[in-house]
Amino acid sequence: MAVHVVDHPLARHLLTGLRDRTTPPATFRRYAWVLSTLVILDATRSVPERAHPVETPLETTDGASLAVGLAVVPVLRAGLSMLEPALELFPDVAVGYIGLERSHETAVAHSYYVKLPPLRDRHTLLVDPMLATGGSAAQAVGLLKSHGAASVAMASIVSAPEGIARLAEAHPDVPVFTAAVDRGLDDSKYILPGLGDYGDRLYGTA
Ligand code: PRP
Ligand code: URA
Repeated sequence: MAVHVVDHPLARHLLTGLRDRTTPPATFRRYAWVLSTLVILDATRSVPERAHPVETPLETTDGASLAVGLAVVPVLRAGLSMLEPALELFPDVAVGYIGLERSHETAVAHSYYVKLPPLRDRHTLLVDPMLATGGSAAQAVGLLKSHGAASVAMASIVSAPEGIARLAEAHPDVPVFTAAVDRGLDDSKYILPGLGDYGDRLYGTA
């Protein structure tokens, strides 16, 4: 499975702001928006294009347009922070939702909501900022595939090696695009150094 880490000074600047425990939710949401844009741009770099000649005011020239439909599927709640940036970049995408919540005791995610568009002929981008144990991502990709998705990529903000390994084992065909691969997980399965509970920091619910 391929793992791509965004390599851009702005991405590192924004990630540092997200990690900073003193960053308030409003600023966290702004940083998350821009960093998500950078990750999603990377994650869609190899989406197929087709030739699309275009007439400029002066002459006809070669152009390109997307050759496949896209679908974006955020994992609720935290993935919602990556949906609007995706819609800004690709206004015509189909949107699905997967609700998953990790148990605080076991860190095992259970699914509480699934609403997906037809995925068979689309390239599907799963967006979830935290790839920790990988349980949520593996489950989410399984749901996408059971709804027909054949081409799936995942975009995250911070990933743990454990989560990458688990997703690679369950779905070796799914590449991961992320802003950072961190050191590992703590005893409660939080990413180290990480940025804490992303959903709580995003929505001020800590
Ligand atoms: C977070 C995050 C992922 C999951 C990652 O969600 O957004 O979905 O944890 O952990 P995993 O890789 O160990 O499965 P959480 O369950 O905290 O829900 P929330 O987004 O609603 O806060
Ligand atoms: N979910 C989060 O929000 N943060 C982590 O570190 C792990 C899972």
